[in-house]
Amino acid sequence: MKISILKFICIFSIFLIYSVVWSPFAAADNHGEKEPVSYHKQIVPILKRSCQGCHHPGDPNADLIVTSYAELKRGGMAGEAIIPGKPDESLIIELISGDPPAMPQNQEPLTAEEINLFTRWILEGAKDDTPAEADETNGEYPSYTVPPVVSAMAYSPDGSTLAVSGVNEVLLYDSKSFELKARLVGKARRIQSIIYADGGKILGIAGGSPAQFGEVQLWDTATNKLIKSIRSTYDTIYGLSFSPDASRIAFGTSDKTVRVISITDEKELVRFDNHGDWVFGTVFSTDGSHFVSCSRDTALKLVEVDTGSFVDDVNSSNKGYGEINAIARHPKADQVLSVGEDRIPRLYRMFRQTRRDVGNTDFNLIKAYEAQSGSIDAVAFSVDGSKFAVGSSSGEARIYNVVDGKRLLSMQGDTVGVFALAFHPDGTQLATGGFDGKIRIFGANSGKQLNIFMSVPIETTASEDVTLTVTGMT
Ligand code: HEC
Repeated sequence: MKISILKFICIFSIFLIYSVVWSPFAAADNHGEKEPVSYHKQIVPILKRSCQGCHHPGDPNADLIVTSYAELKRGGMAGEAIIPGKPDESLIIELISGDPPAMPQNQEPLTAEEINLFTRWILEGAKDDTPAEADETNGEYPSYTVPPVVSAMAYSPDGSTLAVSGVNEVLLYDSKSFELKARLVGKARRIQSIIYADGGKILGIAGGSPAQFGEVQLWDTATNKLIKSIRSTYDTIYGLSFSPDASRIAFGTSDKTVRVISITDEKELVRFDNHGDWVFGTVFSTDGSHFVSCSRDTALKLVEVDTGSFVDDVNSSNKGYGEINAIARHPKADQVLSVGEDRIPRLYRMFRQTRRDVGNTDFNLIKAYEAQSGSIDAVAFSVDGSKFAVGSSSGEARIYNVVDGKRLLSMQGDTVGVFALAFHPDGTQLATGGFDGKIRIFGANSGKQLNIFMSVPIETTASEDVTLTVTGMT
């Protein structure tokens, strides 16, 4: 009350002093010329509050998506909703200003002031003034006082580098000296997947920041520069894989879908939504025409890439095998090794040779291997495809012969649980990582521990002895 009286007196006195024809709208417009409407500061908050609930990428009915400027600009089913400079021709203005307005649907209409902001913003050219994303790291490297869980690792195809997951970054170690060579700092907080592609020219990293965004990063391994960051979904991305020609990527998501994206134009080619739970892994067939995905829903599904259509259930998921945590494709054949909750690695052929029967017999199964001492979280083939390694929640890592299933080695790969492992391309080393944050390097023929080091540099303080903390976790 007090304010409006003051305002009134103020306006009244201005009116008296100048004694000219004057309207409060003119004043508002003058102000507008000086200070254009800010998309970032004024429009985004309204979109977030009143529109985003229905117009976000996770909503299967949403044609229009308002969570980014680019998508808002792209428009919906009816085409562009915003014509810069022309609020009268912009669908968005028509829909928010009708009586009653069509949007926001079944909700409190926007206020006249808010509609005016939209109108002016479009009139002024509908510009995007979103500041370059705040760099969480400020150009500095993440610092650690406790070791992070190691969730992904990979050797470069030339064998020179071991890439290891950190928090907000991937760390590159020299595979001979185990010295830290480089730190690739990105936006995604959690790193779930690390994979080299295109003969080692590209390093692909997938992960995300939970409840915010999923991200795939592509790094140029010659310069250690980020080539591309592709965002998808609101949550972490898992199980990244590349098509053999490195033109496409596939990954699983916590929204139960598998996405295939073309790298050059970032176009989503496939959104496969036939899984009933989080999708943890994807692999392409040797010719790139199909992919297999694995999920917590216990299924392995075969999908044709060009059409995005479901082809076959690779395993018989009615057999009670439990959640599938990871898959790896045989380096030379269309065979996929699946591991998970029920502790038994199973090797399947991707393409069915025997027709499905009523009993849903596991006809694609080539071999079921020895049960591990805990649920299996990590799996990798040796580069020649003759051996595979698995890491389990007991902290153990084992190496097997693929063909005869013979156990060759058992190693303690972590004090708690092994979540990541990788064979050196020459077959001599197996690297493991997991809960305790340490990287262990084993002789892949001897099982001898050749090296052990912390996955990230730890800042120790007098009051906090990290080594003690870690050993205390056993
Ligand atoms: C309660 C759900 C809901 C809310 C909130 C909502 N919308 Fe919509 N909107 C819809 C539906 C449903 C459609 C029709 C399907 C579609 O295009 O997504 C639609 C369509 C549209 C379209 C046409 C898109 C096209 O396909 O061409 C525009 C523009 C639009 N809304 C703008 C807005 C704006 C701006 C807000 C916020 C001020 C808003 N909507 C809030 C549900 C909603």
